[in-house]
Amino acid sequence: MAAAGKSFRLGVLVSGSGSNLQSIIDKLHRGDAGIEVVLVISDNPGAYGLRRAENAGIPTAVFPLGDFPDRPAHDRAMADELERHGVDLVVLAGYMLIVTPALLDRFPQRVINLHPALLPSFPGATPIEDTMAYGARVTGVTVHFVDEGTDTGPIILQEAVEIKYNDTVDSLRERIHAVEHRLLPRAIELIAAGRVGFDQENPRRVIVEGEE
Ligand code: GAR
Repeated sequence: MAAAGKSFRLGVLVSGSGSNLQSIIDKLHRGDAGIEVVLVISDNPGAYGLRRAENAGIPTAVFPLGDFPDRPAHDRAMADELERHGVDLVVLAGYMLIVTPALLDRFPQRVINLHPALLPSFPGATPIEDTMAYGARVTGVTVHFVDEGTDTGPIILQEAVEIKYNDTVDSLRERIHAVEHRLLPRAIELIAAGRVGFDQENPRRVIVEGEE
C-alpha cells in the first residue's frame, strides 16, 4: 500500500504497442492515488511502448532474451533492475514471454498480468484468434496475479465482452482493448490502496475490499 508521502511504485513490462501502458500513464501516473511508473522494461528493443515511456519521462530498460544464456538468467537480471528502482508491483501489460520463478520469487504476489480472454478459457499467446476460431459468443478481459503456470494465477478482476456475428479479430480486439484500458488501471489502483487480499481458506480466491 502507498504509505503517506511515499508513492506506490510500478514496474511495467511490455513487448509491443503499449496501449495499456499508455492507459496506466494517462490514468494513474503521478495522479491523486500516489502511483508512479518508475520503470518500463521490454524484451523487444523496437517496442513502441518504450517510446511511450520515454515521452512521459519514464526510465526504460531493454532485456532481449537472446542476450542471456537462459530464461532464469534473463529474469534474474530484470528482477535486479526492478529492485534497483524500488518497484512495489510488477505489471505485465502486453508482455509476451513467460515469467519464471527467478523473477516471481523476488516479487511474491506482486506480479500481475493482463489477458484478453475470460480465463481459464483461452490461455496462451493468441487468445483473441482462438476465441473467434472456437465460435465462442462471449469473451472478455482478465487481470490476474502471476504464478508459475501460463495464465493460471488467481483472478483479480474480469469483465465480459460480447462477440458479434460480424466481428473480425481486429474489431473484437478493439473492443477488448477498450475494456482493458479501464480494467488494468482499476486493478492497480485497488492493489495500491491495499484493497486486494486473499481468502484464507482458498488462496485462489482474491478478495477485493468493498466488493465482497
Ligand atoms: C493486450 O491485449 C494484452 O491483453 C495482451 O497483449 C495486448 C497488448 O496490447 N496480452 C497477452 O496476450 C498476454 N498473454 P498493448 O501492447 O497495446 O498494451
